[in-house]
Amino acid sequence: MVRVTNIDTKGRFIAFEGGEGTGKSTQTRLLAEALRKHGKLAEISREPGGTTGAEAIRELLLHPPGDGWNPRSEALLFAAARADHVARLIRPALDKGIWVICDRFVDSSRAYQGGAGGLGDDAIRALHQFGSEGMRPDCTILLEVDEARLRQRLSERDGGASDAIGGRSEEYHRAVAQSFRRLADDDPDGFRIVDGTGKPEEVHARIIAALAPLIGEA
Ligand code: TYD
Repeated sequence: MVRVTNIDTKGRFIAFEGGEGTGKSTQTRLLAEALRKHGKLAEISREPGGTTGAEAIRELLLHPPGDGWNPRSEALLFAAARADHVARLIRPALDKGIWVICDRFVDSSRAYQGGAGGLGDDAIRALHQFGSEGMRPDCTILLEVDEARLRQRLSERDGGASDAIGGRSEEYHRAVAQSFRRLADDDPDGFRIVDGTGKPEEVHARIIAALAPLIGEA
C-alpha cells in the first residue's frame, strides 16, 4: 500500500510554536524524552533547519549576506528549507513509525512572514502547498508567555544579541504573537494553546496533559 500522508502510520508529528523565548527548544527536548520513556521512537528537529541543506538556508536567513532579504525572498527561503526538511527527514521518519517533535514549522511562516511581515496567509499557504504538499502536524502546541516575562527571559538568554529576525521591532514581535493566537483560535482541532509560564517541568506537564489523547492512541 502506498502511504500518502502520515495518518495511517504510527509516527506522529508534533510542532512547537510561539515567539522567541517561549521555551520551545526546552519543551521539544522534554517531550521527546517523555515519549521515549513511553516506549516510542522519537526524534527532535527544528526549523529553519533539520537537514544539511535546510541548515545552510537557516544560516542565510538568520545571518543574511549584504542588505538582507526582501519579504518575498525570505518567505521563499523558509518554504524551500521546509520542503527539504519534510521530504528528507520528517516524512521518512513518520513512515518508519518515529515521532517527530519539531521546534517551529509552517505556522511560524504564517505568523512571521504572513502576519507580521504582511504577505498574508494565502500566500504562505500556497508556498507550503507547493513546497511540502501542505503537510500539517498532527498537533501544534502554541506556547504563550506574556510580553514582560518574555523580555526578561530574552535579555537573560541573548543579552541583547539576536539574529536578523529575532532583532526586529517590538511591534513586529507583538504582531507575531497576535497572529499565532489567531491561527490557533481558528483551528482548535489542530492546535493546543499552552501557558508557557512557570518552571520547565510545570509547562511540560501541561503539554503531556494536552497531548494525552494522541499519546494514548498511538
Ligand atoms: P531560532 O533561534 O530557532 O528561534 P528562537 O529564537 O525561537 O529559538 O530562530 C529562528 C528565527 O526564524 C525566529 O526569529 C523565528 C524565525 N522564523 C520565521 O520568521 N519564519 C519561519 O517559518 C521559521 C521556521 C522561523
